[in-house]
Amino acid sequence: MSVRPNIYAPNIWNNPHSFYSSLRREAPVSQVEPGGMWAVTRYEDALHVLKNPQIFSSEGLRAATQPAWLGQRNPVSDSILVLDPPDHTRLRSLITRTFSAPGVARLESFVRSNAESIVADMLARRRVDFVESMGLTLPSRTMSALLGLDTSLAPRFKGWADAIVSFGITPPDATERQAELRATLTELKHHLGQVLELRRREPGNDVVSDLLQARAQGGVLSDDELLGFLVLLLVAGLETTYDLLGLCGLMLADQPDIWARLKADRTLVPKFVEEVLRFESPSQSTMRITTQETELGGVRLPKGAVLMVQFVSANRDESVFPNPHRFDLDRTGTPHLGFGHGIHFCVGAPLARLEARLAVEVLLERCSKLVREPGPVQWNVAVTTRGPAVLPLELHPA
Ligand code: HEM
Repeated sequence: MSVRPNIYAPNIWNNPHSFYSSLRREAPVSQVEPGGMWAVTRYEDALHVLKNPQIFSSEGLRAATQPAWLGQRNPVSDSILVLDPPDHTRLRSLITRTFSAPGVARLESFVRSNAESIVADMLARRRVDFVESMGLTLPSRTMSALLGLDTSLAPRFKGWADAIVSFGITPPDATERQAELRATLTELKHHLGQVLELRRREPGNDVVSDLLQARAQGGVLSDDELLGFLVLLLVAGLETTYDLLGLCGLMLADQPDIWARLKADRTLVPKFVEEVLRFESPSQSTMRITTQETELGGVRLPKGAVLMVQFVSANRDESVFPNPHRFDLDRTGTPHLGFGHGIHFCVGAPLARLEARLAVEVLLERCSKLVREPGPVQWNVAVTTRGPAVLPLELHPA
């Protein structure tokens, strides 16, 4: 019997694209490690899964959010990410307005002025870790403002978000690491519980206060669901945006031609951001579980099969994207799946696009070039997200 590939093994994780190209060709729906999950690698099959939540339930994500060793409730397990209709529909409707494109456009000047102060600070220091200076800082400040969190908590955000996305890849025998993660989750729940208490007493102009008000009006949000919302928004709003910004910095430094084109024509920046999302898929995958026996890509799947829909692979599917391994600013046609598809399509997509666009615009305005320290990229490892863990750059002023 052939050994199943482990998708988190360094040789695959550090360069996933050639591995997924061969899976798409030879075994587009096939079992991988850890856990014998079914990797779904072709665009068309990924779309089929995401469009049919009655057969492919988001309960599949519990494999990543609620491992047995956790011994306590992970609030994300009560969030919209893991729910199917009708609960998903009821809860998601409470935040769609806040996160819509017109809703987040109100944040533009706030995000821009933060991007400007971050770039000014980076230029003053000249050599920086871009991931830490921009990747972590911009989303942390944005999410603090949006959720009405005390900015003094911001240094803890990274540790919290990292912990939540590590549950699904922590081995059953890594007891020390498990104890650390349990402690981090307890701390996170404690702090966010305090935020909820405070906003109950003193409502503000933030998402938490809006959710509390929605609950007071309709009475449809349980305490667990409220905390789930908060933790999901915080983690989803941070982890993937860290990665997207890091990937934008990497691409700008490594591709001088792209940098020059963007400098000459800033209207291309939104297309650049979309192509980064397609090319590297900061959100690499999501999970689903089959509610019945079914067929996918010619493979018979039993009821209860856990699937990993690999956006990282679907976004380079040659049957959909011509020259998929080429970073192409002029790409048109089929949309990428970087923000998912269907009823779970990323709520935060307008916000993530805004943050990335403004960060890139300010870099182009203030810098003549970005130079990366030579050497291989060190990638972070998390259950579904991927980006540079560190990115040493030298910034040259314009
Ligand atoms: C580059 C940044 C981001 C990427 C690549 C990304 C990607 C995704 C993807 C692929 C999904 C679908 C998951 C699934 O189908 O199971 C998703 C869902 C979600 N995202 Fe994002 N996301 C990003 C930023 C954000 C931000 C900034 C926020 C919030 C402020 C956010 C909040 C959410 C929420 C709440 C969901 C769950 C939606 C639902 O289940 O209905 N995301 N995201």
